[in-house]
Amino acid sequence: MSFLSIHGIILLAFTLSSLTPFCVSDSRLLPNKPLTVGSKLLSDDGTFALGFFSPSNSIKTHYYVGIWYNNIPEDNVVWVANRDTPITDPSSTTLALANGSNLVVSNTKGQLIWVANINATRNFSSETIGGEEAILDNSGNFILRASNGVILWQSFDYPTDTLLPGMKLRVTHKSHALQRLISWKDPQDPSPGIYSYGADPKEFLQRFIWNGSRPYRRSPVWNNYLVVGSYLDIIKSTIYMTVRRVDNEIFMSFGIPGDSSTTKIKMDYTGKIKILVWNNSNMLEWNMLQAEPNHECSTYGYCGPFGYCDSTEPIATCKCLDGFKPINYKDDDRFSRGCHRKDALRCDQENTFLTLMNMKIPDTFLYVKNKSFDECTAECTNNCSCTAYAYANMSSTAINGDDTRCLLWMGDLIDTEKLIGQGENLYIRVNELSDKNRRNMILKITLPIIISSLLILICVWLVWIYKCQAKQRNKKIWKNLLSGSLSSSNELGDGNIPFLTYQEILLATNNFCSSNMLGHGGFGNVYKGTFNYGKKIAVKRLSECSGQGILEFKNEVILIAKLQHRNLVKLLGFCIHGDEKLLIYEYLPNTSLDAFLFNSVKKPLLDWSVRFKIILGIARGLLYLHQDSRLNIIHRDLKASNILLDEEMSPKISDFGMARIFDRNQQQGNTNRVVGTYGYMSPEYALKGVFSVKSDVYSFGVLVLEIISGSRISSVDISEDFPNLIAFAWSLWKDGNTKNFIDSSIVESCILDEASQCIHIGLLCVQDNPNARPLMSIGCIYSGERLYITSTSRTTYIFCREELWNL
Ligand SMILES: *[C@@H]1O[C@H](CO)[C@@H](O)[C@H](O)[C@H]1NC(C)=O
Ligand SMILES: *[C@@H]1O[C@H](CO)[C@@H](O)[C@H](O)[C@H]1NC(C)=O
Ligand SMILES: *[C@@H]1O[C@H](CO)[C@@H](O)[C@H](O)[C@H]1NC(C)=O
Ligand SMILES: *[C@@H]1O[C@H](CO)[C@@H](O)[C@H](O)[C@H]1NC(C)=O
Ligand SMILES: *[C@@H]1O[C@H](CO)[C@@H](O)[C@H](O)[C@H]1NC(C)=O
Ligand SMILES: *[C@@H]1O[C@H](CO)[C@@H](O)[C@H](O)[C@H]1NC(C)=O
Ligand SMILES: *[C@@H]1O[C@H](CO)[C@@H](O)[C@H](O)[C@H]1NC(C)=O
Ligand SMILES: *[C@@H]1O[C@H](CO)[C@@H](O)[C@H](O)[C@H]1NC(C)=O
Repeated sequence: MSFLSIHGIILLAFTLSSLTPFCVSDSRLLPNKPLTVGSKLLSDDGTFALGFFSPSNSIKTHYYVGIWYNNIPEDNVVWVANRDTPITDPSSTTLALANGSNLVVSNTKGQLIWVANINATRNFSSETIGGEEAILDNSGNFILRASNGVILWQSFDYPTDTLLPGMKLRVTHKSHALQRLISWKDPQDPSPGIYSYGADPKEFLQRFIWNGSRPYRRSPVWNNYLVVGSYLDIIKSTIYMTVRRVDNEIFMSFGIPGDSSTTKIKMDYTGKIKILVWNNSNMLEWNMLQAEPNHECSTYGYCGPFGYCDSTEPIATCKCLDGFKPINYKDDDRFSRGCHRKDALRCDQENTFLTLMNMKIPDTFLYVKNKSFDECTAECTNNCSCTAYAYANMSSTAINGDDTRCLLWMGDLIDTEKLIGQGENLYIRVNELSDKNRRNMILKITLPIIISSLLILICVWLVWIYKCQAKQRNKKIWKNLLSGSLSSSNELGDGNIPFLTYQEILLATNNFCSSNMLGHGGFGNVYKGTFNYGKKIAVKRLSECSGQGILEFKNEVILIAKLQHRNLVKLLGFCIHGDEKLLIYEYLPNTSLDAFLFNSVKKPLLDWSVRFKIILGIARGLLYLHQDSRLNIIHRDLKASNILLDEEMSPKISDFGMARIFDRNQQQGNTNRVVGTYGYMSPEYALKGVFSVKSDVYSFGVLVLEIISGSRISSVDISEDFPNLIAFAWSLWKDGNTKNFIDSSIVESCILDEASQCIHIGLLCVQDNPNARPLMSIGCIYSGERLYITSTSRTTYIFCREELWNL
């Protein structure tokens, strides 16, 4: 298939997809006016659209009928009609008010793809058939009304994976089934995935995320006012989850009072339930306000029976409830088996109850109706198998005229969590304190007071000592860090990279809050942080399980400490705390190159002049690494996601975890451990583990081709006839057809000459033979308007010896 015909298919696909302008933009669907692919309904205020869409951005023929935010370019679909049955022949398919009374998606062959499940028991004869209409309203609800105004069907009654403000999720079931949000299979496939979210079928007081049929995360139990609210600093408001009774059934919904922002709750395909708000003020993206579960420890039953997850610790960890100790299995020291009592419970005596505060109370409770607090206490005291109870006054008459909530536990206490500032009291049964215990108790109370006053004195003294010695300490850490590491690092770094305390970092990143996570680096997660004086930082947290961590850590600190260049990311500090190893970088608000380059919405922001600037910046940074710095450095993992962009879109090379230092006269190295990213790795490195500056040149060439084409090296949609981007570029270059290689979103702004030369340079850099590739060294200079890769005597070599690049 030739490129042109493929181009034709791409064009066709674009015409069919939701990206092109639509012809119809009414908010009503009328009986004799079916909706076809390419037209859409628009809510009166323009917020929501309804029509046909294709969720996959590669060429696919699966279409769906759905509702999406009309003005939001990404992750915008909020409802899908035909999740299970994609439309495969979009041109002959319509959405119609068929038969005068029902919504039907069907094709010209008469196949029914989807039919709205209208109330079958309604009294047809009392409604005037024929006058119906379906309206997409401003809240995103698609409503089918009979001519007398009765709602026959509405999309809000059939949630998919997204809950919008005003939408209700049924949590009790009198006459209808419970409702759940069910995740998409993946971001390109709306068919039902494995994760779902909704109320506990046994008791509406709590909600679950399920992984298939297994609980994955349980919400705290509703208590007061049947409302769960959490204040979110980022929107300076509280987001409420409420439970309300409508007719005979109970529904949950959410909202932010007085807030007009675009907010949604989404059951994500990764298994997290996310509260997202569209932020118009920054780079036009969804900001995550909250995600659950936010750490492993808070997943369902993680700490086992009678264990609990202590979320008040900087790193949430499992602990045993008071009076319990871990069950120690020889070959299994994990907490998953939970805890058991230190002393067996003697039920013949009068037991007392220990109060645990701020708890997410356990699962599998018994809900006893109409009890006062004292009655609830008695209920548990009088039944030996009752291990714990909890009580709340819901102060609401909405549910069955009963505002009490007495919960009893008859067996194991599982999935308990200690929360920060929220939660409620949990009363657990313990043996009554004997006289001896009482004496111990008195000791337990007075002794801590004495000890703590002593401790305070010691602390004051220590702080004083610490301050005096802080300087020496930093030096010592540096010495430890540098000793025994890389051979060429014995010349000590400038030493003005400060050591930051773990507390400072915890504070800045809000305990590594998952909403601050920026992404995954080479060896761990990267978090955004803010010091209290306002400075923003990016914290790379090396994961403990990566065995190579400490080596890469030393490597990176030592290297970056010595490197100062405006096209390299700047290290601000580092921190070692127990097993934790943290690197603190300057924060670059525009994240990385790949976030722009391979995102259809953001890529037009990188016009040709910006891309050219980025190519030059990377070349300069690489040149500095290879030659101009005091060391000879080979980066070994140059790729789009390691190129960060600052406010001015200047590129900064990051992630030196895999970099190697070279002697000046060393030509190439060998490694058994080939690290890097396929596609960017030169053939000799990927196949034989041989690396040299020429392997970086290869990666640079790949980057240049990606920047110009806006396609990933591994992209399959570019053209079926070519195995990869390189072969594709070569073929077009050979035919003098470089224009077709250039990203269609910049072809307008592009200086063709300049782009052609960059393609040329990119191709030179990705030659199989490392010796044929040009060096970054000697010069990658910017002179006048042109970019050249030169080597003093060989400028002409690059532009004349075309026969050299046999791909
Ligand atoms: C049309 O409506 C009638 C009832 O009014 C129903 O019996 C019939 O099945 C409907 N046909 C279709 C194709 O929906
Ligand atoms: C269905 O229609 C009947 C009769 O009009 C009504 O009583 C019932 O509540 C309706 N059910 C739903 C789910 O709307
Ligand atoms: C339907 O409505 C008509 C007119 O209001 C009434 O006479 C009839 O009994 C109703 N039928 C049912 C099944 O409710
Ligand atoms: C969900 O369950 C599957 C199958 O047991 C498992 O592979 C997957 O890791 C689980 N997902 C999460 C997020 O735990
Ligand atoms: C929106 O983005 C701006 C700029 O990045 C940020 O300051 C603000 O907190 C964001 N708002 C929300 C609600 O996320
Ligand atoms: C609870 O008590 C009230 C008044 O004492 C009574 O009206 C109501 O039916 C009781 N509810 C239940 C579920 O027993
Ligand atoms: C304790 O409660 C359980 C569960 O409700 C019940 O089966 C059992 O009979 C009760 N025992 C006593 C002594 O009341
Ligand atoms: C719950 O609180 C309301 C309002 O404070 C009060 O009127 C009611 O008596 C309380 N109910 C119980 C069972 O304590």
